Amino acid sequence: MTAPARLLITAGPTHEPIDAVRYLGNRSSGRLGVALADAAAERGHTVTLLLGPTPRLPSHPSVRTLRFQTAADLEHLLQESFPECDILIMAAAVADYRPAHPDPAALQRKVRRKDGPLRLELAPTPDLLAGCAARRRAGQCLVGFALEPRAGLFEAARAKLERKGIDLIVANPLETMDSDHVEATMLGRPGTAFEHGRPTPGVLQKEAFAGWLLDAVAEAMERRSA
Ligand code: CTP
Repeated sequence: MTAPARLLITAGPTHEPIDAVRYLGNRSSGRLGVALADAAAERGHTVTLLLGPTPRLPSHPSVRTLRFQTAADLEHLLQESFPECDILIMAAAVADYRPAHPDPAALQRKVRRKDGPLRLELAPTPDLLAGCAARRRAGQCLVGFALEPRAGLFEAARAKLERKGIDLIVANPLETMDSDHVEATMLGRPGTAFEHGRPTPGVLQKEAFAGWLLDAVAEAMERRSA
């Protein structure tokens, strides 16, 4: 990836509304994905950042940023943007479940307190990364993240790589989510670069990790086309 490429990067959490004031979310800050967007733009790549509800914004002026709130918003943006990219880096922390019976009227008002329990039924969201992989063009490179407990991290990440049909996966211990630092391993498919894993050189700040990750993706793509 020494030549300029078109990068599509997703970052941040999703918020799935319950009513007008409440949502289901997660603790992702978007910091890593935003750092990736800035680092890629700095290297001269064309960068589109799909960014969830977080105050963190890219600083590089050439990053094109489109905002999403829900997994459905992100799915829609990916449908539009994925066909045009060379590399998708899916750093967003996408909800796996959302309210099963969204009532448009309830989204305009606040659910009142009552005595007794309130049941919230949830339905699974689609796996957006696997959806992109299923409609990929030849030559596109898809990178995902696996946020897992340290015990069994690599096995779980390898299983995700296969299940989602992507090229590379960053195996990340769970503690990374709200930390400033990352200590991760890049894993590739059997018979490709990073089949046996490439660990970061120790613990890196998320900004330094962004540069390391872009180098690793470039190397994987070069070895693929060699
Ligand atoms: N992801 C996605 N769509 C979802 C959930 C996750 O595209 N509905 C993407 C994430 O952006 C990430 C990768 O899939 O790049 C792995 O996310 P993770 O939450 O670790 O895994 P899940 O697929 O949710 O599987 P599990 O719940 O078993 O951990």
